Amino acid sequence: MADSSPSFDDLRTKLAEHGQEHVLRSWDRLSTSEQDRLKQQLLNLDLDLLDSLIAGTDEKKDFGGLAAAAQSPPAIRADGSGASWTPVQARQRGEQALRDGEVGAVIVAGGQGTRLGFAHPKGMFPIGPVSGRTLFQFFADRLIATRHRYGSRIPLYLMTSDATDEETRDDFESNDFLGLDPEDVIIFKQGTMPAVDAASGKLLLSAADSLALSPDGHGGTVTALARNGCLEDARRRGVKHLAYIQVDNPLADLCDPALLGHHLLAESEMTTQVVRKRDPLERVGNVVLVDGRIQIIEYSDLPEEAARACSEDGQLKLWAGNIAVHVIDVGFLERSSRSAGSLPFHRALKKVPFLSEDGKEINPEAPNATKFERFIFDLLPEARNAFVVEARASESFAPVKNAEGAPSDTPALAKAAISDLHSRWLEQAGAVVDSGVQVEINPRFALDSGELAEKIPANLRIDVDRYFDSGVE
Ligand code: UTP
Repeated sequence: MADSSPSFDDLRTKLAEHGQEHVLRSWDRLSTSEQDRLKQQLLNLDLDLLDSLIAGTDEKKDFGGLAAAAQSPPAIRADGSGASWTPVQARQRGEQALRDGEVGAVIVAGGQGTRLGFAHPKGMFPIGPVSGRTLFQFFADRLIATRHRYGSRIPLYLMTSDATDEETRDDFESNDFLGLDPEDVIIFKQGTMPAVDAASGKLLLSAADSLALSPDGHGGTVTALARNGCLEDARRRGVKHLAYIQVDNPLADLCDPALLGHHLLAESEMTTQVVRKRDPLERVGNVVLVDGRIQIIEYSDLPEEAARACSEDGQLKLWAGNIAVHVIDVGFLERSSRSAGSLPFHRALKKVPFLSEDGKEINPEAPNATKFERFIFDLLPEARNAFVVEARASESFAPVKNAEGAPSDTPALAKAAISDLHSRWLEQAGAVVDSGVQVEINPRFALDSGELAEKIPANLRIDVDRYFDSGVE
């Protein structure tokens, strides 16, 4: 072995103690820089934690028990019922927070987007049904319009990963920060977790000088925000509440004043927006109440019987589907980041390319590896006054997950949902939209149907595809 530094010898011994020394099998053939890369990755590993994850001795939830005890969560309904305040009061409260500069935005965009199969970060996917704007541009336009309306800065904390960081930065830098003030765009990288062979628990190598690493899940946001100074930055700016969304839902109503207002009026540390599940087995997390605490049971962990159970009124008992739109207090994130180690890991069986023992690159046809990820929603049970607000799926949820041709969550379905929503806005504003015509409204033209009504002429007829472009500077 060329490297005899004490830390390396310690590392080698430690790897052997944990049955993972095979990762050094090509060590002698690596260049110094390759050795440095692998060594750094190995030094970053928490081998004790990994052992307990592989052995399954980390704390596990009894999902059957949880599901049996799960109740429908108390929630503000989409019609505004369920709270002691009105939707108008909520909106006004949220608008005040926006005006006071108390709101920041968090977009997580570190996922590998394997199902979509797009060659770039998902945020660069062209989703505008008429304009072809990218997901990143969608949210940048929304932030620009919101800032314009309320007159205060809204910092954007954009989380990337090793898989998406470089291209994301290039995309922002080479496109004039998509119209945002560069000082208000903070791009930061999440951590990684190694993938292990599903059968043996052995660490997988993606190359002779690299472990097969993947992003540590959107739950990694908590430590990554703290580690990269984003929470301090938010404090410095007077930002108290972070509007969190995932980059792959173009209908996510980033910095929605009503959602912010509900959060504030409920004095909640974490508020989550949900939609009514369209079918009992829909592949979304189930937001439930167990022992007085709001939490999420993933669809994959929810027994079918519990998923199908109905209340006396014939409605689904566990109706609230997670769409990953949250408002989270900075103070709560600071507290959580000090104990983020306590967020549990979830396991996923995935296809992970790897280097075989004889040095061949293998692209498995079936899932071969276990990945470990933390989920942001596991913060919910820890939050004071965690709160649930229902939105209508047709207005708030059109995830881009799968490649075209899949039965659900495809780009074509998301584009149709955007165009349908904007058609309805136009119709509410008095326009007539011919059937089959695609429409798209940039939030810089109008953020909502009310603003649209002020901007378009009376009796507008739309008979060809139309994009209402930005209307503010
Ligand atoms: P998903 O779990 O749906 O993963 O992420 P994905 O990367 O988009 O797609 P698949 O599963 O590989 O096909 C939901 C959101 O969370 C972000 C993603 O970027 C997406 O916006 N995410 C996910 C992260 O930021 N980091 C992660 O480690 C995982």
